[in-house]
Amino acid sequence: ELTPHVSPTELAATTRALRGAGRRIVLVPTMGALHEGHRELIRHARRLPGSTVTVVSIFVNPLQFGAGEDLERYPRPLAEDVRACREEGAELVFAPSAADMYPEGADTTISPGVLGEQLEGAVRPGHFAGVLTVVAKLFHIVGPDVAFFGEKDYQQLVLLRRMVRDLDFPVSVVGVPTVREPDGLALSSRNAYLSAADRPRAAVLHRALRAGAGVSAGGPRAVLDAAWAVLREEPALAVDYLELCDADLRPDPQPGGTARLLVAARLGTTRLIDNVHVQL
Ligand code: PAJ
Repeated sequence: ELTPHVSPTELAATTRALRGAGRRIVLVPTMGALHEGHRELIRHARRLPGSTVTVVSIFVNPLQFGAGEDLERYPRPLAEDVRACREEGAELVFAPSAADMYPEGADTTISPGVLGEQLEGAVRPGHFAGVLTVVAKLFHIVGPDVAFFGEKDYQQLVLLRRMVRDLDFPVSVVGVPTVREPDGLALSSRNAYLSAADRPRAAVLHRALRAGAGVSAGGPRAVLDAAWAVLREEPALAVDYLELCDADLRPDPQPGGTARLLVAARLGTTRLIDNVHVQL
């Protein structure tokens, strides 16, 4: 049986005792509604060598949702999620309440710096401060040696690596490649919001990114032109941004360097993001 821990202090005491007994603590932070992408993170965590304990946190973090976003309608199938954690071999589930994570009067946040206001941050003000704050809290409560995050949320991964470095968290952050549907759509809890008509259209994001990555020998302009040409084939798509950055998300990636092509777009009321590696 895998009973979710609700209390932060109890979870902290449990992981502290396990660490004292020589186990390495591994954390997979999630907001629940677990799909194959999340399961892949847990499988990567479980493959670490040595005597480990894998903790999956499930918490829909109100701090990272903006006004008018989907906080209220975000799916919360806790019993199914706990079953998925058990199937993948996680040893502990941490599912705190919002009141326990943010007691009355909580007002301290972590500022992500300039990158927090670009790309996703430009469309979702405050989002990354909310993400960094909750992950910092999870790191303090759980005390992981290693934490796994998906490349699907590439800017989140870059900002979390930076937070860990800048604020001296004793954690190794590991990124996991994006898990996709057969047509290329990146798995996301929000895909469930897509209408039956929009679902096949959503694959245009990954098609565009692949088209761009495929002409990388032609340089940054060719990459962006090729990706835009594919995005424009889908009139129902409203693009928020398409950008080519270096691996740390600085603008103007250098020839011969490793780059990242990122896209965000809306189909109906559903917002989708995706990104791929590009070798310039
Ligand atoms: P959530 O969207 O639930 O995602 C949890 C983790 O799963 C993140 O690291 C995300 O990048 C990863 N993930 C999601 N879809 C994936 C896919 N298709 N392939 C691989 N990995 C995927 O990201 C969050 O929650 C939150 O911001 C969180 C970090 C938990 C902080 O609240």
